[in-house]
Amino acid sequence: MSKRSLNCLFGCLAANSRYCRNYSYKAVRRPDAAILSRKLTAPQVESKPDELQAPNDLTKHLRAKILATGPITVAEYMREVLTNPLSGYYMNRDVFGREGDFITSPEICQIFGELVAVWIVSEWRKLGSPTPFQVVELGPGRGTLARDVLKVLTQFKLAGQFSMHMVEISPYLSKVQAQRLCFSSEIVNDENSSHYLTGKTATGTKVFWHKRLEDVPNAFSIILAHEFFDALPVHKLQRDDKYWKEVLIDVNENNGNDFDNKQQFRYVIPKSQTPVSHLFTSITGETRDCLEYSLDTDRIINIIANRFESDGGIALIMDYGHFGEKGDTFRAFKNHQLHEPLLAPGTADLTADVDFRQIKRVAEENGKVLCFGPVEQGSFLQKMEGEARLEKLLSNTLPENRDAIKSGYKMLTDPEQMGRRFKFFSIFPAVLKEHLKKFPISGFY
Ligand SMILES: C[S@@+](CC[C@H](N)C(=O)[O-])C[C@H]1O[C@@H](n2cnc3c(N)ncnc32)[C@H](O)[C@@H]1O
Repeated sequence: MSKRSLNCLFGCLAANSRYCRNYSYKAVRRPDAAILSRKLTAPQVESKPDELQAPNDLTKHLRAKILATGPITVAEYMREVLTNPLSGYYMNRDVFGREGDFITSPEICQIFGELVAVWIVSEWRKLGSPTPFQVVELGPGRGTLARDVLKVLTQFKLAGQFSMHMVEISPYLSKVQAQRLCFSSEIVNDENSSHYLTGKTATGTKVFWHKRLEDVPNAFSIILAHEFFDALPVHKLQRDDKYWKEVLIDVNENNGNDFDNKQQFRYVIPKSQTPVSHLFTSITGETRDCLEYSLDTDRIINIIANRFESDGGIALIMDYGHFGEKGDTFRAFKNHQLHEPLLAPGTADLTADVDFRQIKRVAEENGKVLCFGPVEQGSFLQKMEGEARLEKLLSNTLPENRDAIKSGYKMLTDPEQMGRRFKFFSIFPAVLKEHLKKFPISGFY
């Protein structure tokens, strides 16, 4: 889409601003790889005294599980820590912002969500404006991106033409999202229903909450995923001669029942292969000796590919990640600082960089979809005419808000901050191959 057409779309956006916030974001500094590999046997990250207190419920649960059935995979540990229904990290609290553990791009500045929305409108129109359509967001957090997208689509007078579908595992966060998006909402107690919460926005758009992407109805879908895939469990694999071995997590025997002392878990590498290390096939010419592999990501990408082939749709994945060159990125964040992932599970966010090369490999495997990117966030936002939007906002906002808006936008685009590390990646149906040559994807070219 040309600069002129994008500017035309901007003309439809309201000029008012919400306040831009400026805290630290996660995934900037990675732990030293040497320290991480040493952690396989002896954790090196210093812990603060308040983290060495009596074990929480999740620690007890994980200990009992490992003692009963043996060491667990890093993926299982991650799943329990993040999404255990009773005490998982995401399940019953707000973890974002100054009081939380990290801040994400949509929370930093409204320009982020607005440009994503302009991208949606631009790509949807190029496809002939198929209606009705659904906007699906995977892992919407506080619902800030969804709210900004909803606001812009409503300004484009599309309110009656789409529904919104939030794929959210956290009952707590789904309520936060409903408060942000909806005029009214109600919990659905029917176990046969594909959604567990539903609501209506002030302009009449219907919003549904689902536990899994599988539960979202089949229809033309615009799928957004911002910092979702980095929260999905990863298996950690390590090459041992010509085989892959899986890194597992065991209880820290040396620690015994001395809960006041040191951490309760440690990494181990079993002598034999696990089902995942046995079944995993690396790409020809793989040079890494250790890597992270997310079965959940593969599964979700397969669903997207199948749906796009049958019903059409486009996906925009926004996350930090690499293209198959990194191998050891599993880490934790607490209070905006790196944290030891095996310490006080459930009190810190766990994350791993997204492997975009693996996503492309799985998505394109059966020829159903085509992938584009990853491109750097700074480049995407600039190509989407972010600076023009910034100028417009600045000229219409109160003087006391200007610095926060400017520094928020800088944080999103500066290569030294979030501009280079965060990436945009898109998926389109393969039948559009020729069409996309004529109408290149906005923000990517
Ligand atoms: C890192 S937060 C990102 C939130 C938001 N997209 C943002 O960028 O501000 C991850 C989000 O994904 C949700 N989530 C994590 N694992 C999930 C899963 N397996 N299924 C559905 N949602 C999940 C969390 O509850 C949370 O809303």
